[in-house]
Amino acid sequence: MTAPTTTPLLQRQLLFVTGKGGTGKSTVAAALAELAAARGLRTLVCEMDAKGALANAFEVGELGFAPRELRPGLFAMVMNTEDSLREYLRLFVRIPLIGRLGPLAHTFDFVADAAPGVKEILAVGKLCYEVRERHYDLVVVDAEASGHIVAQIDAPRAIRELVHVGMVREQTEWMLAILADPARTGVVVVTTPEEMPVTETVELVRSVQQSTPVDVAAVVANRMLPRWFDGAEQEVFDLVASPAAEPALAELAGAKVTTVLQAARLASARRVGAEQHLARLREQLPAGMAVVEVPEMFSRSGGRRVVSLAGEALGRVL
Ligand SMILES: Nc1ncnc2c1ncn2[C@@H]1O[C@H](COP(=O)(O)OP(=O)(O)O)[C@@H](O)[C@H]1O
Ligand SMILES: [Mg+2]
Repeated sequence: MTAPTTTPLLQRQLLFVTGKGGTGKSTVAAALAELAAARGLRTLVCEMDAKGALANAFEVGELGFAPRELRPGLFAMVMNTEDSLREYLRLFVRIPLIGRLGPLAHTFDFVADAAPGVKEILAVGKLCYEVRERHYDLVVVDAEASGHIVAQIDAPRAIRELVHVGMVREQTEWMLAILADPARTGVVVVTTPEEMPVTETVELVRSVQQSTPVDVAAVVANRMLPRWFDGAEQEVFDLVASPAAEPALAELAGAKVTTVLQAARLASARRVGAEQHLARLREQLPAGMAVVEVPEMFSRSGGRRVVSLAGEALGRVL
């Protein structure tokens, strides 16, 4: 059996980065965008839930709907469905809207809250539009977490099924053509090598594959702990850390040796645990699914430093 040929991540045009909250979605989205820009791709990274995660990740001031060039070729924006609607009306319906939408905004809120998928399609539509117009080589989305991503990427199809005629249908067709094309669009699921995130990731991959036309491009196993010891070192560690050796060591180095040994055993056990969770992840994911490891970055500062280290790590495998 030959491995299925899939389009490499950075050769696609639209990547939705999702996963369980706190696993590193924003970090990975920012890192992928930074890597792509460093490779000469004109890249847009878009945060969907306006919590300021991208601004934190890049350590820049507040970001808005209008993309801002953070460094050559790297643009960042935050999604806002009201701005997206305004842009849509200006571009496609040719209603000039100066300043705020006024009463229409209230109508919009009313319609958007009442009809499922309206806000989602305005957000996804904006991203697809940037792809269609080729304003960027790559659009990376810091997307919704596991619970909401399917509704987000599947909005055009859900709406098409609801509305069978006219402009709405035409507008969903071109979006679907982009979203359903695995050469152009992919979902990247971020997880950490832990029990719950792995379980949630396996379920999420299944549900994206079963209920949306969007391809799952890769799973990122983030915050992988280093292998502390190799071969011969492991033997030395097993010997030193064995309970039998402890009295002799305590005699040599004092009672605190116990604390040091406990810390070392814990660190070692956590790496072993991470490997087991990673093994289960690979086993339970569909055959051939790419799993990309990103190491834990032991950085005190978080933010930009972690993003650029993660970008470098991704760059070694992508
Ligand atoms: N590989 C990593 N090494 C160290 N810290 C990380 C790594 N990935 C993410 N983090 C940190 O974990 C925290 C949560 O990451 P974030 O990307 O905001 O998660 P999410 O967007 O999934 O909620 C942040 O403080 C981030 O700096
Ligand atoms: Mg986030």
